[in-house]
Amino acid sequence: MMAMEAEADPVRRALGITATGRPVHPRFPFVLYHQAGRAIGAGVTTDIAVAVYGTDPRFGVDAIGTQPAAVATTLAAAETEPTLIVSAGTAGGFANRGGAIGSVYLSAAPVVFHDRRIPLGAFEPYGVGSYPTIGTDKIAEAAGVEPGVVTTGNSLDAPAVDRATMESAGAHAKDMEAAAVAWVAESLGVDFAAVKAITDLIDTPEPTADQFERNLTHATERLAEMIPAVLRALLR
Ligand code: ADE
Repeated sequence: MMAMEAEADPVRRALGITATGRPVHPRFPFVLYHQAGRAIGAGVTTDIAVAVYGTDPRFGVDAIGTQPAAVATTLAAAETEPTLIVSAGTAGGFANRGGAIGSVYLSAAPVVFHDRRIPLGAFEPYGVGSYPTIGTDKIAEAAGVEPGVVTTGNSLDAPAVDRATMESAGAHAKDMEAAAVAWVAESLGVDFAAVKAITDLIDTPEPTADQFERNLTHATERLAEMIPAVLRALLR
């Protein structure tokens, strides 16, 4: 499951996916690239479907964020019946936790929302979510990526109130889709993992948007470079 075409193109190439993209639903912009029998190295062959959320028809930009992620995951899963759902893309990182531009993280702890504050008893943990991942420190090590905590919200920035939630979760990567995809995966009873490459460090002085624009190509190349090894390690 991928949010931006700029992220998906190098990943499709790294996985050798040549299938033509097709719509998943006539009313949504999601595009599915589904290919059977892809060899991903080390003797591992698997069917792979890369679903991209596509271009929002009204705003003309990639349909990023949690609601396209959840709907696209539901529709793509209904069509492909996956055994593993991966939210792959870019994320903001944290210099104070050893983050660096281009670092690639595998979720190795439950994925949480960092911007759903509902202080109404049992609604509070519902808001945070805490969805399971099959990622572990060992799988990350086998794949040559960093194990980390991924948190999700619907904004590129990180106001203090969100930062406090990220801090208490011990976040390594903040994105805009993983927890929504993970919620669908948990609901469907399908294994889930997030793989995120860092485009910006949110605890450094340069504006996040400037870092994101400068580093997007580099981070997506790093993501594409690592994705076959991550899939192999997750499928082992
Ligand atoms: N994707 C890349 N950088 C991000 C950030 N800082 N916040 C959310 N999603 C991102």
